[in-house]
Amino acid sequence: MPQPDASPELSARVDAAVEAALAAIDAASTTAELQAAKSAHNGQGSELAGLNASLRDIAPEERKAAGQTIGAGRARVAEAIAARQGELAAAEEAAQLEAERVDVTALPRLRAPGGRHPLSMLADEMTDVFVGMGWEVAEGPELEHEWYNFDALNVDPDHPARSESDTFYVAPAERHLVLRTQTSPVQARSMLTRELPIYIVAPGRVYRTDDIDATHLPVFTQMEGLAIDKGLTMAHLRGTLEHLARIMFGEEAKIRLRPNYFPFTEPSAEMDVWHPGMRGGPRWVEWGGCGMVNPNVLRATGVDPEVYSGFAFGMGVERTLQFRYQLDDMRDMIEGDVRFTEQFGMVI
Ligand code: FA5
Ligand code: MG
Repeated sequence: MPQPDASPELSARVDAAVEAALAAIDAASTTAELQAAKSAHNGQGSELAGLNASLRDIAPEERKAAGQTIGAGRARVAEAIAARQGELAAAEEAAQLEAERVDVTALPRLRAPGGRHPLSMLADEMTDVFVGMGWEVAEGPELEHEWYNFDALNVDPDHPARSESDTFYVAPAERHLVLRTQTSPVQARSMLTRELPIYIVAPGRVYRTDDIDATHLPVFTQMEGLAIDKGLTMAHLRGTLEHLARIMFGEEAKIRLRPNYFPFTEPSAEMDVWHPGMRGGPRWVEWGGCGMVNPNVLRATGVDPEVYSGFAFGMGVERTLQFRYQLDDMRDMIEGDVRFTEQFGMVI
């Protein structure tokens, strides 16, 4: 049996509501706008929802046709929303991908990487000279027992270097701790713990109550060396220091040993270095101290001086940097200004 059509009046209202909905859907340019069009034209309170609700007031025999007309209109609107939703989502995803695009072939942005301090690099370079000859690297603490810093090195209890005008003592006094004033306590530690023969270098920080000036710092770096073997003489000491001097300051560099006194070496010498590029013209400048290991020190650490002999040396790393690059003032080395550091290369 043919169904009666919906009334022309209803059909016109549905058509008008669908047209308005399609126009709004078409005009939506984002998924948010589409969501708004959807609730305005197909959601609760919309014209189409209102028509649907009015079905109950329609005479039962017309209700089916009216329901179909309204349902078909709502279906068109829902379809249009789904289609537009797909388009907008694809466009938004494409835009997001474009915005997040990473050019993997682009050059990295240049950043100043910072650099190692020239003193650390120089200490490594000096250490490498010895490692290259088969020596080992030894270490000791910066907070050191007075016994290693002084007694084991044959320094008398009333030696002036022990006074509080030279040495930082660390409280409480009964623990006998000092900030080591030299890297030489590593000599004693090495002799007590290592097998013979011994060939070690010990770079490290040391502390003295020295006033700061162009050639002195209260915290500075020394490079200690110690060799204990059968038959070592002053000639071996000299040759070793000359080798280091030439690598540090060039082939023309020379060293000179002047008699001096250290309680832990006998004979002892102050070591000067000369090289043609020295600031203010070629001249002799003090670089470190050295000597043949005192038999008392050998005995104190259990080494038989009848069988073994040794030599030791200790020079300043800041002085090495200063003489090598003709630097006026050692204070520049500790101020942390990158304009100073950069001159030595920013190797990391
Ligand atoms: C010593 O410290 C001895 N331990 C060296 C030694 C080692 C002798 C092994 C014998 C055997 P001296 O106090 O002279 O010696 O210091 C050695 C070097 O450290 C000096 O020649 C100098 O290059 C450097 N130096 C000393 N005091 C300072 C300071 N305040 N600032 C920067 N460098 C310094
Ligand atoms: Mg000295």
